[in-house]
Amino acid sequence: MINRTNQHVPNIGLGTYNMSPEEAEKMTYESIMYGYRHIDTAAVYRNEEAVGIGLKKAMTELNLNRENIFVTTKLWPGGLMKVDRVKNFEGVIKSFEKSLFKLGLDYIDLYLIHSPHARKKRIEQWQALIDIKERGKVKHIGVSNWGINHLDELIQNNLPLPDANQIELHPWSQKPELVNYLREKHIDIIAYSSLVPLSTWRHKDGENSKKTTELQSISESQDSPFKQLSIKYNVTEAQFLLKWALELGYSILPKSIELNRMEENYNLDFSISEIDMDYIETLDRGGSITWEYGDPLEVI
Ligand SMILES: NC(=O)c1ccc[n+]([C@@H]2O[C@H](COP(=O)([O-])OP(=O)(O)OC[C@H]3O[C@@H](n4cnc5c(N)ncnc54)[C@H](OP(=O)(O)O)[C@@H]3O)[C@@H](O)[C@H]2O)c1
Repeated sequence: MINRTNQHVPNIGLGTYNMSPEEAEKMTYESIMYGYRHIDTAAVYRNEEAVGIGLKKAMTELNLNRENIFVTTKLWPGGLMKVDRVKNFEGVIKSFEKSLFKLGLDYIDLYLIHSPHARKKRIEQWQALIDIKERGKVKHIGVSNWGINHLDELIQNNLPLPDANQIELHPWSQKPELVNYLREKHIDIIAYSSLVPLSTWRHKDGENSKKTTELQSISESQDSPFKQLSIKYNVTEAQFLLKWALELGYSILPKSIELNRMEENYNLDFSISEIDMDYIETLDRGGSITWEYGDPLEVI
């Protein structure tokens, strides 16, 4: 088993996608009060301001310094659809300043390019992130949903590689080739949507994904391997899926608007045997499930 932990990114963070501003403020506050020290948001989630308010409230109550907290937010690069304007260098800087202002912070711990959709402007956007970092306004810069081809582009342009890549990773989407590449290049791996195999994953109206009814019925079945394994380890299925990612050295970002689940997702003090990790390796189905617009790793 690989025992590599990330160099820059804390192991556990609260995910905030699909949270309304009210939910994001409450869950940011509650999660920090509970012990979380990393919050993941994005310009496109439209809740940065609320995250900032929740964060400030908890930090004041707990007397935490800024250095005790790790905040990730993301640039929306544009280019997903025709009407989605691609940002140039200045557009990236403006967007970053907006996120910083909304969060009410004077620096960001990790700033990511949310996806590789900007195509011809990927390099320019990355140069803008380098500029922001050089000016001390971010501690770390990275990307999200970037594949090997996108990262190789940076090498071809003699540019530094990102500190982290945030990608969809769970037992049904294991991306071994990309994971090996990231490990080789010492790029931190942040897993998102770890809970896809749960029957409760994004099952409410308006929560989009490409999860099929076939996969949902596997999730609901009592024979689901994750249900069986969680019984064996005497943990919940969510805890089992999250621990799988931690065992592989990935950071995780479980999202929940339920207090009991937020607490459950933070309590992962057990380990999974190598035999069971090897078994889960056989369950990879390839491809990705989270993005309703298709797999961003396939963007050319
Ligand atoms: N970079 C990207 O493109 C990208 C894409 C997707 C996600 N992300 C980041 O990663 C975070 C996590 O991914 P995600 O939001 O897709 O999903 P997730 O954290 O894998 O799962 C969240 C879903 O599972 C449910 N859930 C959470 N904890 C549970 C538990 N203990 N038991 C049962 N159900 C539980 C939640 O419902 P309730 O809220 O009702 O509890 C929600 O429906 C996001 O919030 C976001 O910050 C990034």
